[in-house]
Amino acid sequence: MSSQVVLPRIMQVGENASLEIPNILISLNCKRPLIITDKMMVELGYARRIKDCLSEDQISADIFDDTVPEPTVHSIQAGVEKAREGNYDCIIALGGGSPIDSAKAIAILAKHGGVMQDYRFPRMVIEQGLPVIAIPTTAGTGSEVTRFTIITDESNDEKMLCVGMGFMPIAALVDYKLTISLPPRITADTGIDALTHAMEAYVSKKANAYSDSQAIASIKLIGPHLRKAYHKGEDQQAREAMMLGSTLAGIAFSNASVALVHGMSRPIGAFFHVPHGLSNAMLLPSVTAFSIPAAPARYADCARAMGVATVQDSNDTANQKLLIELQALNEELAVPTPQQFGINRDTFFDVCQTMAEQALASGSPSNNPIEPSINEMVAIYKGLWD
Ligand SMILES: [Fe+2]
Repeated sequence: MSSQVVLPRIMQVGENASLEIPNILISLNCKRPLIITDKMMVELGYARRIKDCLSEDQISADIFDDTVPEPTVHSIQAGVEKAREGNYDCIIALGGGSPIDSAKAIAILAKHGGVMQDYRFPRMVIEQGLPVIAIPTTAGTGSEVTRFTIITDESNDEKMLCVGMGFMPIAALVDYKLTISLPPRITADTGIDALTHAMEAYVSKKANAYSDSQAIASIKLIGPHLRKAYHKGEDQQAREAMMLGSTLAGIAFSNASVALVHGMSRPIGAFFHVPHGLSNAMLLPSVTAFSIPAAPARYADCARAMGVATVQDSNDTANQKLLIELQALNEELAVPTPQQFGINRDTFFDVCQTMAEQALASGSPSNNPIEPSINEMVAIYKGLWD
């Protein structure tokens, strides 16, 4: 059996990769870019830097900075109008996962019309939108190399998963220098998200030899460097490892899918506005414990790649060490419980059933080594309060 692998056409990886943006545009024959980003990237001067860098090669870029965290159907509308008006031939997506996800959605809607609901999973979006050149500024979502975007439908608080080749950026500029000043909280949340991508890709029913190689390489980079990047953000080596690890994890899950953690995490994010990486982190230990019996060798490989178990350890021992490590990581990285995050227990319990149904509908739980029932997912949600 063969597996299809979908990647960006160009990847520029390493120190100051983002400064190669004029050459990338020239090689793609793009002359009129719209930079889609957020206010923070403008405030930090990152958007200006890209714009200035382009103007040195006589490429003039406009900036749209009205993207929001956890983008919604409504929030991307102004971006769609802006992209349509300006006769742009490409989009530069600059920022964390939210600006990049927004840009991917805008790129499709600007060219093909309709509303985002039209493009939700299970539809496979093969239409090509405006070409997107992604420049991530967090080491986490991997959105720069995935054929996914997540847009929230605010009419029912559902995070819609949108899938297809149309959402794959044409180029990704992976520059760890842009992550040096990330605050510890974002470093932790996005870093655990990346680790979750790699682990879920590796245990996914859709895993293949190619995605496995990317996932394991990613876990080997993230395992020893996540704590370092969290405690000492200026550690260049840790930041470089996290950035590459995050991109490799993105490649892994884009070609093998995520599984139960992501399936269950999206509804928590949509209902309670928990940042994506945090809701993953809340779920990762218990979903891993639930899933290990169906894929003990796979999870043991993850433990060894993280460096918490050795080749001499049996799979059982490695998996015990993995669960201890995931819990310890959450504690050291100060991941709050839902209660500590400020969620009301009764409100949470009231929507557990709906969250489980939405999780199932997203399709991700069916990639899990064990396909959970609705009741099992409800039990996992409720277990986060024990
Ligand atoms: Fe994620």
